[in-house]
Amino acid sequence: MEPYGPQGTITVARALELPALRRGLPEVLTGADRLDRPVRWVHAGEAPNMAALLKGGELLLTTGHGLLGGRPAEQRAFVRGLAERDIAALVVELGPRLPALPAAVVDTAGSYGLPLVQLHREVPFVAVTEEIHTELVNEHYTLLRQAEEVHRRCTEVLLGGGGVPEVLRLFADFAGNPVFLQGADGRLLYAAGPRGGGAGAADPLQVWDGLRSCGLVGSVVTDIPGRDPGPGAVRARLTVLPVDAPLAPLHRIAAERAAGLLAVVLLQLAMVRSGQVSWEDVVQETLRSQGPTANIPLRYALEDLDTGEGVIPRGEPILLCIAAAGRDPDRHGEDADRFDVTRATRRDHLAFGFGAHHCLGRAMALLEATIALPALFDRFPRLALATPAEELVPLESFLSTGFQALPVLLEPA
Ligand code: HEM
Repeated sequence: MEPYGPQGTITVARALELPALRRGLPEVLTGADRLDRPVRWVHAGEAPNMAALLKGGELLLTTGHGLLGGRPAEQRAFVRGLAERDIAALVVELGPRLPALPAAVVDTAGSYGLPLVQLHREVPFVAVTEEIHTELVNEHYTLLRQAEEVHRRCTEVLLGGGGVPEVLRLFADFAGNPVFLQGADGRLLYAAGPRGGGAGAADPLQVWDGLRSCGLVGSVVTDIPGRDPGPGAVRARLTVLPVDAPLAPLHRIAAERAAGLLAVVLLQLAMVRSGQVSWEDVVQETLRSQGPTANIPLRYALEDLDTGEGVIPRGEPILLCIAAAGRDPDRHGEDADRFDVTRATRRDHLAFGFGAHHCLGRAMALLEATIALPALFDRFPRLALATPAEELVPLESFLSTGFQALPVLLEPA
C-alpha cells in the first residue's frame, strides 16, 4: 500500500506504522480495507460533540471518555457524526476506565466503513500528534519543492526559446492531466495532454468538448493576469481537468506560478497585437537574441589590434562571433538569453555586421520582415511549434544559426 495519500497527506496505514502509534499496539477493528484514506491532520479530544469541531480528513485520537457511561444510541450517534464528517480514522486508547470498545461503537464504525483502531497500550497523544504532523509538513515541503522544480523547468523552457505549448506540455506531465489555455473571450487557445496513457493524454480536445460545460469537480482554474490591475484585466485562463488523476492544492500552487510565466509570454504577444510595441521591435529582438549569422570568418587584422584583453597581431585571421554580441550580459543584462520585445537594448546588436561591410540590404530585410510577420500572425493567430523547442535540430553550420526544419502547426488544438 502506498504510504502517501493524495499530495500533502499521508495514509492511515502510514500513520499506524509510525513509532508513536505503533508503541500503542494498534488493532484495526473495522475499515481495514480503507487504511489508504488520507490523513490531513491529527486531532486529540474527548468531547461528546467532537464531530462538530472537525472538518474531515482528521485522525481522531481519544481515550473514549466521551463514550463512557453513554447509552448505545448515544455511542452510535457519536460514531455516526464522525463518519459523516468524513474523518480519516478513529483511534481509541483502551485503559482501566475503558477496557473494551462497546459493541455499538464497533458496529456503527463497521457499517460506515470507518477505520476504527484500538490501542492496547497507553501512548502520549502529544507524541503521536507531533510525529504525524512532522510527517505531513515534510510531505508538504517535498511537494512545494516539486512545484518549485516545475516552475524552474518552465522558466528554462522559455529561456531556451520555447513558448506557450511547451510550458503547457510540461505542466500537463506534472499534473498528470490535460491542461487548457483559454483567451479572455473564452476561446480555447491551446491544449496539452500528459505523456503516457489516460483519457487526457489520448485526446485533450475530446475531453475539453465533453467536460468544459459541466465544470468538472476538482478542476484547477487559474486566471492569467493582464497588465493592468482590476477584474477586467484577465488575459487568459489556465484550466487543469482531473480526468486521469485527482488534483491537490499543490497543483493550484504550481498552476499559479506557471500562470505568472505564461502572463509574461502572452503579454508580449498581446502588446504586439495591440500595437503597444511594433513588429519592428519583434524583428529587432529576434535579431538580437537569435540573429541568422553566427560567425563571420575570413577577416584578417590589417594592423596590430589591441582588444583590451590582448593584441591580435597584424595578418592574423579573425572570426567575428557577431551572434554572441547579442547575448552579452554586460550589454543586455543577466537575462540576455530571454526574448523580451520590450528590452531597451533590442536594437543594440551586430546581426547586420558593422563598419564598412555592414549589410547593404538591412533596410530591405527589416521592411520585408515587418510586413511578413504581421501578415503571418494575422492569418494564423495560433501558429505554434509542432515539436518541443528543445527537439529542434540546429543547422550543421558555424556560419548560420537556425534549424534544419521548423515544423509548425498553423491551427493547433
Ligand atoms: C535578416 C536578413 C539579413 C541579415 C541578418 C543580413 C546580415 C548580413 C551580414 C552579417 C553581412 C556581413 C557584414 C560584414 O561582413 O561585416 C551582410 C552583408 C551583406 N548583405 Fe545582408 N543580411 C540580411 C539581408 C540582406 C538582404 C535582403 C540583402 C539584399 C537585398 C543583403 C545584402 C547584403 C550585401 C550586399 C552584403 C555585403 C556588404 C559588403 O560586403 O559591403 N542582406 N548581411
